[in-house]
Amino acid sequence: MPVPPSDAGHPAPPSEAPTSGGAPPMKVILAGDLDAGEWAAWHAALAAALPEAQWLDAEAARRDPTAVQVAVVANPPPGSLAGLHHLKLIQSLWAGVDRLLADPTVPAEVPLARMVDPAMSAAMAETALWAVLALHRGFFAYQQRQREGLWRQHRQRRAAEVPVLVLGRGEMGGRVAAALRTQGYPVTTWGRGGPPLQAQLAAHEIVVNLLPLTPQTRGLLDARFLAAMPPSAALVNLGRGAHVVDADLLAALDSGHLRHAVLDVFHAEPLPAAHRFWRHPRVTMLPHAAALTDHASAAQVVAANLRALREGAVPAHLVDRARGY
Ligand code: GLV
Repeated sequence: MPVPPSDAGHPAPPSEAPTSGGAPPMKVILAGDLDAGEWAAWHAALAAALPEAQWLDAEAARRDPTAVQVAVVANPPPGSLAGLHHLKLIQSLWAGVDRLLADPTVPAEVPLARMVDPAMSAAMAETALWAVLALHRGFFAYQQRQREGLWRQHRQRRAAEVPVLVLGRGEMGGRVAAALRTQGYPVTTWGRGGPPLQAQLAAHEIVVNLLPLTPQTRGLLDARFLAAMPPSAALVNLGRGAHVVDADLLAALDSGHLRHAVLDVFHAEPLPAAHRFWRHPRVTMLPHAAALTDHASAAQVVAANLRALREGAVPAHLVDRARGY
């Protein structure tokens, strides 16, 4: 029988839901690519935010897969939801749902909600601001000079002299663009249905990618894209690794056409030890940590959506599967 993957070692037992008379508690499974500590932390936050639900672990779901009504998922390994035939909602704890959409065992007819969490958007804006400020003021270059024992200043420019192009006009893109504008950067946003990208690229020194990964955006950041950026431009990739053609990005960095790249996301995560990004002098890496989902605030978002479902309302932030996000 196809079942959720084993979570042997997960400490938290299924919670006994208080029955407040009337309807039986909603049965919810928490599934994902989570270690035991993360699973327990998520379970605690979710059970606190929604005590009236019955939170099942994989073992309980395996005993009675058709009882499971909602799956709360954190980037679950493919196949995690197979056999759950009575699901009414899949609620992602991640903002990006590309991995779920790529899994043929995720039932296509079940509504899928992505995570839209104000705390996560705020964290993303902080990371984008840090990266753009460091690129604009040359702080990554100063870091390199420190390693080389070099005391040398470079020209200081105003934020108004550094145009930034934000790819993505959704929750994250909008929030990041607003934060950068507040800091004085001239910001253009680009998204689906926007004007041709090539023309925009030439006019911007820094590109921040926050697009969702879809068949249309996969590999978008390729040699042609990078060649359209002005000399000494910089890239900040906070979207997905598969937006980038790694070999093309490395070539642009090696030639110096691109001054620097700040990368949070990669084709394979963790990034394999032999990958050149790890040690490239023009690359600054984060371990997919630009905006982690905030347990407490995301649990509130989940609780609101599950209560909406219970009351027969349409859950918020449903994914348009044809669009891909
Ligand atoms: C992180 O990358 C997410 O999609 O939440």
